[in-house]
Amino acid sequence: MRNKPPLGQTSLKHFMSHHWQRRPLLVRQALPDFKSPLSLQRLLEIAHNEEDPAESRLIRRQRGRWSLAHGPFAEDEIPLEAKRHWTLLLQGMDLHDDAIRSLLDRFRFIADARLDDLMISYAVDGGGVGPHLDSYDVFLLQAQGRRHWRWGKQADNTLRDAVPLKLLREFTPSDEAILEPGDMLYLPPGWAHDGVAMGECMTFSIGFRAPSRHELLHAWLADCADSPIRGTDPRFRDPGVKATTSPARIPDAMQRELSGWIENWRPDAQSISRFIGRFLTEPKPNVWFETTDHPISRTAFAQDVARKGLRADRRSRLAYRGKDFFINGECIEPESGWRPVLHRLADQRCLAPREFAERMDDPALLDLLHDWFEAGWIRFDAKPAASDVGPRRKPLR
Ligand code: SIN
Ligand code: CO
Repeated sequence: MRNKPPLGQTSLKHFMSHHWQRRPLLVRQALPDFKSPLSLQRLLEIAHNEEDPAESRLIRRQRGRWSLAHGPFAEDEIPLEAKRHWTLLLQGMDLHDDAIRSLLDRFRFIADARLDDLMISYAVDGGGVGPHLDSYDVFLLQAQGRRHWRWGKQADNTLRDAVPLKLLREFTPSDEAILEPGDMLYLPPGWAHDGVAMGECMTFSIGFRAPSRHELLHAWLADCADSPIRGTDPRFRDPGVKATTSPARIPDAMQRELSGWIENWRPDAQSISRFIGRFLTEPKPNVWFETTDHPISRTAFAQDVARKGLRADRRSRLAYRGKDFFINGECIEPESGWRPVLHRLADQRCLAPREFAERMDDPALLDLLHDWFEAGWIRFDAKPAASDVGPRRKPLR
């Protein structure tokens, strides 16, 4: 299998039925001989970069007091000279580096719609974020150095007061382990945990999101509010209404009619399904796509595609369901003949030329792919080159 799940001796079936969302799993040498594709130097560059800022945090513990600062950081704000008790956390590193994005392919036994991001933490001796809970599933992969993890399920999850982080007041771990490079700990949501660096170390957290009902409905209602109302848009009318002697009272007829509009509002199944696909593929607000340095004609695009193939940009989110295809928060209903090609692109995140040769002469499909290419959503070459970063940037749309 091309992307073998990094679960050691545990079978995927066993993991999914016994551990996923249920109980932790420690995997020794999940990724044997693993080396971080990013050096500390590169992490610092990302943490300092104001042009393409990563979500970054610096957490310190000095004389028992916790402090939290948000990046981007000036060079002197990261306490490289301090040898103990600080950690730098960089969120969304899969959006910044192709090698990190490729690492996520090892975890695609879980649907992309559940994937959140890969966070990297760099810590010096004693550094960590303190005992806490996450509401997401997380795979904690030790990338460099050693970290002492303790974890457990506890009834009392009260948070400490007056600290800038969500730290647990009580922490009573039931298990512990020292993780070495290549080892990995899976934790389901709601398990208390604390990882303390033993000397300098780097940990990769592969996090999975699960929207809450409130989040989904909030986004759905905002989406509805932004969409033009389809069909007629009746306005309340009250011809023949009697004069009132209590002008502040909301009239019965008005109350009835407005309630009815809300109670009888039934979005159709297609609107709901399309919204869900757009919602789940919407890139995070800080995501920018890089356009190519040299825009090319449709004809040149067709020739290059036939030679090199295509791949999804590391930042692109793709999904499909039924007849609909979703890319970066947009929905299209592809012609039925395109579906196998687009589904393959989404499932593999790449297409070798032979995989869509039968559709190469379809001008409408080429137009669509050309548009995505120009937006920076897809790129040439079924495999990423070592560096494909171009200087021109433009907003998502
Ligand atoms: C860390 O890497 O320091 C924290 C990751 C986590 O606890 O989720
Ligand atoms: Co955590």
